[in-house]
Amino acid sequence: MSGTRLPDGRVLFVTGTGTEVGKTVATAAVAASALRAGLRVAVLKPGQTGVAPDEPGDAEEVGRLAGPAAPHSGDLTLRELARYPEPLAPDTAARRSGLPCLAAEDVAKEVAGLAERHDLVLVEGAGGLLVRYDEQGRTLADQARAVRQLGLPAEVLLVASAGLGTLNTTALTAEALSARRLPLLGVLVGAWPDSPGLADRCNLADLPRVAGAPLLGALPEHAGRAADFPALAAAALAPALHGHWDAAAFVAAHGAG
Ligand SMILES: Nc1ncnc2c1ncn2[C@@H]1O[C@H](COP(=O)(O)OP(=O)(O)OP(=O)(O)O)[C@@H](O)[C@H]1O
Ligand SMILES: [Mg+2]
Repeated sequence: MSGTRLPDGRVLFVTGTGTEVGKTVATAAVAASALRAGLRVAVLKPGQTGVAPDEPGDAEEVGRLAGPAAPHSGDLTLRELARYPEPLAPDTAARRSGLPCLAAEDVAKEVAGLAERHDLVLVEGAGGLLVRYDEQGRTLADQARAVRQLGLPAEVLLVASAGLGTLNTTALTAEALSARRLPLLGVLVGAWPDSPGLADRCNLADLPRVAGAPLLGALPEHAGRAADFPALAAAALAPALHGHWDAAAFVAAHGAG
């Protein structure tokens, strides 16, 4: 189920079934595991909303969590292209603030530059897949397509919430990706509860089914506060994401049978 190991030089767009599902923690986990595996990693947050100029954004949060896994300071690059203070979709936040929108081509150019100097480039979206970044209504999916048009093999990682409602938004996201011919590498549960309910447990089997892509891990709900985040990340991610999580064993232990 875990698929093959992610080849070096890849670009992975991290989207979610919604906002606050754990994209940043998931991005940090993939970054930390890749760094432990000896890869040079770049993390790009194209549009950061809901954060004041002097506050840490998602990229800084990734640095806090994954930074300790970087053997040399140059192995982890953190980038943010635009920041808007209001907690809104980037296009709305840009319009209200009078700041310029982010063009998909500019994001693609930045990704291409980062891909020249890193083995893995992670791009964290804002909210879910079809959240808009500009007046033309272009989305993270358009950024991924623009990267692929540059000849880079961009794929998508979908971070899903664990419980009720996640199957619908996972299926919708998978269908939207397929309509745009964007490859879905797999699904990652952003916050696996300490005490999972029936829906959480059933979803372990149903998430990959509705996504048409493998389950690539489940981050414990308190992962972000772990003493050794990189070790926890490697244990919670499948080999395709540079970890040693065993999907079949996890589903056997926690699934609903
Ligand atoms: N596995 C986890 N361990 C610890 N905390 C988590 C985990 N998943 C999510 N959280 C917490 O839940 C909140 C939302 O998580 P996160 O910031 O990763 O979501 P997001 O999908 O990146 O949201 P956004 O759309 O705002 O970027 C944060 O406060 C985060 O610390
Ligand atoms: Mg985030």
